[in-house]
Amino acid sequence: MKYPGALITFEGLDGCGKTTQLELQAERLRTQGRAIMVTREPGGTAVGRQIREIVLSPASGRLAPATELALMFAARAQHIEEVIRPALQAGSIVLCDRFTDSTVAYQGYGRGVPLDDIAALNRILCCGLQPNITLFLDIDAETAAERTNSRNRAALQEQTRFEEEGLELFRRVRHGYHELANREPARIRVVNGMAGIAEVHEAITHVVDEFLDNRLAR
Ligand code: TMP
Repeated sequence: MKYPGALITFEGLDGCGKTTQLELQAERLRTQGRAIMVTREPGGTAVGRQIREIVLSPASGRLAPATELALMFAARAQHIEEVIRPALQAGSIVLCDRFTDSTVAYQGYGRGVPLDDIAALNRILCCGLQPNITLFLDIDAETAAERTNSRNRAALQEQTRFEEEGLELFRRVRHGYHELANREPARIRVVNGMAGIAEVHEAITHVVDEFLDNRLAR
């Protein structure tokens, strides 16, 4: 299904800097007079925020991979219905902090859920909605673990269930993102997340502007 708007998602390991970069793009595109919707997964709706608390809180303990998967898709189905589809229909550019590629990377490659099952749930629950462009901010697993540890210490925050598992999970997830990017190079654009904020911003701006220019030219 084609919509007048566009869905651009930001992906990467915890600590990759995607939220800062998403906000910078939102600000930049808004100053051009474009209609921008900023949202996140899980957490872009009231139900999504409750689900986020369940999936991230260490108090949830060891969730079965199927439970984690179902919760991510429950949050997403509600998010699409309540926020994303209406915005796309209204012609907005939706900038979303994580989307289905996170599920493939974390639950698929990270937890070992079969990728076909994820694709099937995506069709059944999310009408197969795919981002127009996915920006994958690539950092290595060691950097992700260091950044999330020091961020949590500075904020006196406990680690999330994902961060608690650290390196090994992050290595598998990163591999998953690279596999995805190899499979769909036109949609998933790899950006070096180890570069400075300004340099990453410039790289992302280039990809976003190229996409928007092509779209207008059509
Ligand atoms: P965030 O803090 O970047 O919003 O990410 C929250 C955590 O949720 C992060 O560790 C990745 C995880 N996650 C999944 O495992 N699967 C998903 O489908 C999504 C959207 C997030």
